[in-house]
Amino acid sequence: MPGDKSISHRAAMMAALAQGTSSIRNFSTSADCAATLACLNALGVLIEKENEDLLITGVGINGLRDPKAPLDCGNSGTTMRLLAGILAAQNFTSTLTGDDSLRSRPMQRIIEPLQMMGANISTRDGRAPLLIQGHRNLNPISYELLVASAQVKSCILLAGLSAKGRTEVIENQTTRDHTERMLSSFGAQIETGKAAHKENARFAAVNGPARLSARNVVIPGDVSSAAYFIAAAALLPGSSLEVSDVGVNPTRVLFLDQLRTMGLDVEITGTHDDNHEPVGSIRVRGSRKQLSPESDSRMTIRGLAVPQLIDELPLLAVVGSQIEGGIEIRDAAELRVKESDRIATTALNLRAMGADVKEFDDGFRVAGPVALRGAKVDPHGDHRIAMAFAVAALLAEGETEISDEECVGVSFPGFFELLETVVKR
Ligand code: S3P
Repeated sequence: MPGDKSISHRAAMMAALAQGTSSIRNFSTSADCAATLACLNALGVLIEKENEDLLITGVGINGLRDPKAPLDCGNSGTTMRLLAGILAAQNFTSTLTGDDSLRSRPMQRIIEPLQMMGANISTRDGRAPLLIQGHRNLNPISYELLVASAQVKSCILLAGLSAKGRTEVIENQTTRDHTERMLSSFGAQIETGKAAHKENARFAAVNGPARLSARNVVIPGDVSSAAYFIAAAALLPGSSLEVSDVGVNPTRVLFLDQLRTMGLDVEITGTHDDNHEPVGSIRVRGSRKQLSPESDSRMTIRGLAVPQLIDELPLLAVVGSQIEGGIEIRDAAELRVKESDRIATTALNLRAMGADVKEFDDGFRVAGPVALRGAKVDPHGDHRIAMAFAVAALLAEGETEISDEECVGVSFPGFFELLETVVKR
């Protein structure tokens, strides 16, 4: 698998803020991570290629250069939200912008905490372009997340690197923890644990001003990219697939448990730690048995599980259409503000393929099992919808045509070519 997109963004940004030259192996090939590199370059960070490795020479936590022109984050929410935290602590004014999709996504969630820290941010109605007037003396804050978002958590922690004292983020639902792990790997003082007096709540805190030191990082394979191959292999009888050297961070692999609950045959083997991130192999066998959740009732995903499955929910909706009783996904209103409105785009395309879908404000119910039929799929420019429906297409009778299929490059250029090599006709 290509290098993990989430981890690659963080490795590049932290290398840019470190003292010295970091080398990064297996950096994500995604357009999103290319946007991060282009922004860092425009901010005065030297980025070179040496064989397969990226060499990034850091400038220190406040050493970025005024970019003069707006920084284009493309389609990438992670680029925009994490960079905003870094730019809030620089002594210049900068502008973050992106494509139509990114300029329609909510940014108030980062503006509020950054303003509490003393940055001055102006926007048009809480959306990009963001005009950030940063300064080097941010105030540390203790902030409880209003939305379960690793991007917001990361934005605050990155800003906290420059604030004098302890900046703490409390989350009531666990989200991916790559920022915490990567900060620790680059030598920041970071503390994580259970938050007092609150069930399920956790905190992450950094002490600033911090000094990061260059590291050599190997990025594990992207488990969210692997998810499409895993689901396809698990549902196509007779398949056998092993994905090696893939990230198996516990905050990212809950979808494997969900597949197992549906009766599918997937397992993680050979886990070890690499640069503070667990890495392993995932083995899958295509099942011939009747698929049904372990309980008698319909498979339901809601509550605390949702943030840890957030990028896999459209794919789980497709898988759910194949199991006895179908699937219901709730508490997932965040899907409406991803690269597309993923509740609407999942429902639209599943229906086009013959599934019965009921839409809710915060999710959907998909009846199952259903024999999907080939159809015209419109991913609305959303890479994860295009890839989820490539899996649906493999399960369907007849031909499926996915429009605008190159949108997969946002996270996974070469997705269709790789799929071609593992699917037997
Ligand atoms: C990401 C966090 C998630 C996820 C996105 C990548 C990250 O977003 O959906 O694809 O790299 O931190 P939120 O944290 O906003 O839910």
